[in-house]
Amino acid sequence: RVRPVILAGGAGTRLWPESTPTRPKHLLEPFGSGTLLRQTIERVGDSTRFLQPILVCSETQEELNGSEGPECRLILETHPRGSAAAIALAAHLSDPEDVLLILPSDHLISDPKPLFDAVASALPAAEAGRLVTFGIKPTHAETGFGYITVGPTFEASVHEVREFVEKPQKARAEELLRSGEAFWNSGMFQFKAGAFLDELRQYAPAIHEATRASIAGASSIENRVRPDPEALKRSPSNSIDYAVMEHSHRIAVVPLDMQWSDVGSWAAVHELSPKDVDGNVAENGHAIDSRNCLIRSSGPTVVAIGVEDLVIVATPDHVLVVPRSDAQRVREAAALAEKLA
Ligand code: GDD
Ligand code: MG
Repeated sequence: RVRPVILAGGAGTRLWPESTPTRPKHLLEPFGSGTLLRQTIERVGDSTRFLQPILVCSETQEELNGSEGPECRLILETHPRGSAAAIALAAHLSDPEDVLLILPSDHLISDPKPLFDAVASALPAAEAGRLVTFGIKPTHAETGFGYITVGPTFEASVHEVREFVEKPQKARAEELLRSGEAFWNSGMFQFKAGAFLDELRQYAPAIHEATRASIAGASSIENRVRPDPEALKRSPSNSIDYAVMEHSHRIAVVPLDMQWSDVGSWAAVHELSPKDVDGNVAENGHAIDSRNCLIRSSGPTVVAIGVEDLVIVATPDHVLVVPRSDAQRVREAAALAEKLA
């Protein structure tokens, strides 16, 4: 059995105004079927396959996260230090031989069957000390993802990795896409705790040492682990992708053919939601004579008339209006709202 480690850190500006620093994306319910975090926890609920999950999150969101995952063991970070440190805390807490399955808490996966199959294929390689990542076939030159170019397979469906490129520039992303040989990094990983820590010690020794000391000095009550704050504070901040995956010679990739989305923008929510005949998605809102709009409100009733390709999201405090094609620019609104607050 594999131990899931669920990462629930994210700052959450991409789905502003529903997501805010105190309610990041994984605590939203963009598709009305439980929060993305809850869906992630339930996905690994089968105890014949998975051990008790570890959930790594900010101590400021202890209650919000804890109530979504009462069955999880929580590691509560006093200082967010990026995914490399968050994973390292969970790895130091585990037996070095434990195989961990690292899962972001904010992805949409409608049918996890292909993931379970990929996890099973990855297991022998993980047990042999490889850091396995799961590769998604890219559909466009997205610059917000990592890219993996692959070499030959060395076990059924496990490939050697030629190169791991985190968040390439547009031109490079286009080149990688055209090559037809690159995968997107799904952001999910599988490895032995000890294998990850060996690589971390080699490529990011300061993160390794600070998180080791932080777990050595941790206090623990029931299923809540509080790493030592002073030690954690000393850790540099970095993602697993930049800190380890771009450097390690022990990585491998298992292709994953699955409906998968990181729900990176309101445009993605529109794309993934069931639409009416005019292409609108309206929750607590109405679209009259309008096309291809996303309208959501947790505040006033919103009525849009005669508009096209808009995102309109209202909360009791804020209203966002942006063309669907510019949905990435919502960061600007989130930043402005923070400044004005
Ligand atoms: N607990 C904790 N603490 N979690 C964190 C922290 C932290 O300090 N920082 C990030 N995380 C969590 C996020 O909540 C998310 O679940 C996961 O780690 C990945 O972080 P993101 O910030 O969402 O990374 P990204 O989306 O830019 O890039 C990653 O995911 C892409 C796929 O969605 C990379 O792995 C890319 O290579 C990958 O393509
Ligand atoms: Mg992400």
